[in-house]
Amino acid sequence: MPDLPVDPIRLVTAWAGRPVTVTEIKGGLSHRIARVDTGDGECWLMRVLDPRVSEAGLGIPLEQEIANTACAARGGVGPRVVHRIPDHPVLLLEFLDGRTLDAAAVRDPDMIPEIARACRRLHAGPRFANDFSIFRKLEELLALCHANGLPVPDGHADRLPVIADMERALTRWPLPAVPCHNDLLPENFIAMADGSVRIVDYQLSGNHDPTFELGDIAAEADYPPELVSLLAASYFGEHDRRLLARVRLYLAMSNFTWTLWFAVHHGLLSEQAAAADFDYAAEAADKFQQAVRDMDDPGFGRLIDDVRGLPPV
Ligand SMILES: Nc1ncnc2c1ncn2[C@@H]1O[C@H](COP(=O)(O)OP(=O)(O)O)[C@@H](O)[C@H]1O
Ligand SMILES: [Mg+2]
Repeated sequence: MPDLPVDPIRLVTAWAGRPVTVTEIKGGLSHRIARVDTGDGECWLMRVLDPRVSEAGLGIPLEQEIANTACAARGGVGPRVVHRIPDHPVLLLEFLDGRTLDAAAVRDPDMIPEIARACRRLHAGPRFANDFSIFRKLEELLALCHANGLPVPDGHADRLPVIADMERALTRWPLPAVPCHNDLLPENFIAMADGSVRIVDYQLSGNHDPTFELGDIAAEADYPPELVSLLAASYFGEHDRRLLARVRLYLAMSNFTWTLWFAVHHGLLSEQAAAADFDYAAEAADKFQQAVRDMDDPGFGRLIDDVRGLPPV
């Protein structure tokens, strides 16, 4: 948790001008998150951004994250930014009074069209302050591992030529970059009472290929192939083999790259990791195993050919 020189609750109380009740929310992987209630019925979400996360290369720079959070709010899918405490990395956001999803909920076939709709809404909204590439992120995280002597799973380096092949195929007929979240693990979705889905946590956001967004969702909720197809068809409004192949390549890319996010977090932010009560090293191993499962599948080369072959319609 960030050691601010001033207690963020005191800052929030001073801004609110009245006493507040603060309830910490567990479950985030990076920052201090709490619900803040005033005695007279107002309620906000306090997000205390930890600068060490972006300094370690695990998130975009703080100012970009805040700007993108405001963009996503303008598009209607992110929580409204209620206030930023001047000179402090403390945000007060609209409290979304809904249900935080888990992997089982993200796999629910009735939920998938709503998730696709939320993504389309985000992607159609105002452009973010920065661009993002999962391939450049992989290079950055690998460089961090090498520079800090952090262990990379056995077999990770052997697969880099296939990754380069994937990038060549995916960039041969690129899709226009749109404002993407890039880190859609189930807990970043909140289902509201009216059935809509909202998206929180813009720590890795940036303009990117929308098929990465879909592949990343599928990776994070460990979708079987039929759900990957359902998500892609819900998002694009049609079944298209080449678009589906892009999503499936990015699914593997998500697991392959985020393996190193967890390895770097484990290696460089061990103090926070202990406080979060989450096994970052085990998550790295799990993600790598899933990447290997897909990349070693005999049909994987065919996906690359499908993506390289013709422009997506
Ligand atoms: N605006 C919000 N309204 C309601 N709950 C929220 C909001 N933002 C975050 N949460 C809850 O807090 C959890 C962690 O927040 P998140 O922003 O994802 O933090 P982290 O960056 O640490 O992952 C989310 O999974 C969700 O349950
Ligand atoms: Mg989160």
